[in-house]
Amino acid sequence: MKITIIGAGYVGLVQSVCLADFGFSVTCIEKDLNKLRELKFGRIPFYEPGLEDLFRKNLKSNRLNFTNEYSSNISQSDVIFICVGTPPKKNGESNLNFVDQVTKEISKKIKGYTVIVSKSTVPVGTSRRIEKILKRVSSTKTFDVVSNPEFLREGSALEDFTKPDKIIIGCRTTKAEKILKKIYKPLNRPYVVTSNETAEIIKYANNSFLATKITFVNEIADLCENIGAEIETVAKAMGLDGRIGSKFLHPGPGYGGSCFPKDVKSLIYQGNKNSTDLKIIKAVDRANELRIKYLFQRVKKITKNKFNNIQIGLLGISFKPNTDDVRQSPGIKLAKDLSKTKAKIKIYDPKGMENAKKELPRSIEFCSDEYEVAKNSNLLVIVTEWNQFKNLDLLKVKKIMKKPVILDLRNIYSKQITKNGFQYYSVGNN
Ligand SMILES: NC(=O)c1ccc[n+]([C@@H]2O[C@H](COP(=O)([O-])OP(=O)(O)OC[C@H]3O[C@@H](n4cnc5c(N)ncnc54)[C@H](O)[C@@H]3O)[C@@H](O)[C@H]2O)c1
Repeated sequence: MKITIIGAGYVGLVQSVCLADFGFSVTCIEKDLNKLRELKFGRIPFYEPGLEDLFRKNLKSNRLNFTNEYSSNISQSDVIFICVGTPPKKNGESNLNFVDQVTKEISKKIKGYTVIVSKSTVPVGTSRRIEKILKRVSSTKTFDVVSNPEFLREGSALEDFTKPDKIIIGCRTTKAEKILKKIYKPLNRPYVVTSNETAEIIKYANNSFLATKITFVNEIADLCENIGAEIETVAKAMGLDGRIGSKFLHPGPGYGGSCFPKDVKSLIYQGNKNSTDLKIIKAVDRANELRIKYLFQRVKKITKNKFNNIQIGLLGISFKPNTDDVRQSPGIKLAKDLSKTKAKIKIYDPKGMENAKKELPRSIEFCSDEYEVAKNSNLLVIVTEWNQFKNLDLLKVKKIMKKPVILDLRNIYSKQITKNGFQYYSVGNN
């Protein structure tokens, strides 16, 4: 079976490498020439643990190829996975320009029966939209369009790809279903086979529910802070209830990343368009936006709104650990707000700094490690829970900071740290 994957981003590259590793012949089409050059040189254009080794192994096997050329690759493909971005428009609607462009290219080039799979997160009705474009240009060709949403998390993408909780196959024919099942056979995981439309909405419902869980625990954390309770214990107890579960119950600076914010907004847009007022999801979206804005207020309170001649250090800037992705990262918003004050801002992140530099003002200083950030800082803000920030040499940190004050937005330390002479603020504890 010849497989083509369009888009070598976090989803497309993982899909390409893993399917090549299953023994399929995979061609990945990427239009960004810089990314393409990196890939051809044997380097992956972003950080994802374990991916580079598997990528190189499969490059050597010749089962994995990269190109920007559509013609022969599309015409020879049995299955084509669309893995391009679906960024949000200002009104929350998903921008389907990339999906449309790719579909038009495919429609001009396909020959025999081809299965076109949407792995991108796309609004309900996108399969029909793809079918329409394909029919317009290639009315005599046979094809099936499948919705097969992806659930991997950046930072643990290989683990998630190889051990997904479920594989969603939204399709209209058993022929397409069988082909998808053949591709994913090595995974041996449960399938949910359904209509394209149901498959499309599953992804939004899934992500919006997780965003709701995060937002809920953040709200309880705020209450804990104000009434003298401890959110960590509350969350732990809640998580022990099998009906709730412990995952996504960690209080913090609000959800970010390239998926949750845009998927929540897109679901709201789809609700509005289809006469359904999604009240809970709307509240989640608003609460999360306010929370990210509130981070700056939190810093203001600690510094008593005095930013003259002070230095603030941020530990972490990626939206979560083990990724270099800073898209919609709460840390980026906080750094931007802080950069408008008179304070000097320093940042260190193990992997996210190159991407952050593209988004942040040049006045911000990027450091080579956590201690360089701490040196002479009046306040250290823990933004991302990278493992290396969990074991800071606190004696050293205290010695080199101007004032030993920590705002821990991920609760990786506890009040115990005050015994080391720190002034300590966290989320959901008074
Ligand atoms: N990143 C995640 O964790 C994640 C998880 C699940 C689902 N998704 C969804 O998967 C989709 C892709 O996400 P991503 O994070 O991989 O995006 P990304 O922006 O990292 O990658 C998309 C890639 O597609 C390429 N591309 C765009 N148009 C192209 C074209 N016409 N031809 C060839 N290549 C083209 C871009 O250059 C880019 O490299 C989105 O819909 C996203 O919501 C993402």
